[in-house]
Amino acid sequence: LRIAVLASGRGSNLAALLAARERGELPVEFVLVASDKADATVLQLARSASIPTMVLDPREYADRRAYDFALFDRIGAHQPDLLVLAGFMRIIDGEALKPWTGRMINIHPSLLPKYRGLHTHRRALKAGDPEHGASVHYVTAELDGGPVIAQASLPIEAGDDENKLAARLLPLEHQLLPAVVALIAAGRLDWSEDGILFDQQPL
Ligand code: GRF
Repeated sequence: LRIAVLASGRGSNLAALLAARERGELPVEFVLVASDKADATVLQLARSASIPTMVLDPREYADRRAYDFALFDRIGAHQPDLLVLAGFMRIIDGEALKPWTGRMINIHPSLLPKYRGLHTHRRALKAGDPEHGASVHYVTAELDGGPVIAQASLPIEAGDDENKLAARLLPLEHQLLPAVVALIAAGRLDWSEDGILFDQQPL
């Protein structure tokens, strides 16, 4: 499976994917790491792992749609089978992502459908939720709204604040994302118009 990763920030989820491949748990090839931020730490990580990188600056495009079409055009040139959004902090134009429907997944730090968008940890705490978590879902035109593939959850503890909660959740994200990519790489997960299809073998 040829994978392109899109990311805007520190890249700990990319690091987790690379570590899973190192351990022999992820039979994939990383063909590209793309970012909207030239100074994103994730790019250094990609370079040190000898993965081709690409930076496309949104400020050089007239609008979101023009940017997103250019972005996916360039990503497509690397012929990925799967696009993985790992902390890609942009809303994506619905028309531009259409050709990638069923071939693009995102990791989001909440138990979707709760808390789409930003500040998920803060919002879970404020709501007094007993638990919090992360979701990996297929990307559709609706922000953080595509079909959920898998989730990881943890209890919210007395004394938690935004940072503590985020820090406890992150290691779960680092298990969840490689596990879902491994499922896709094994051909055990598929997109259909009616929903997600899992095969019947135990995970
Ligand atoms: C993660 O919390 C992910 O769920 C969210 O953005 C963050 C990215 O972290 N979408 P990193 O750049 O992978 O360290």
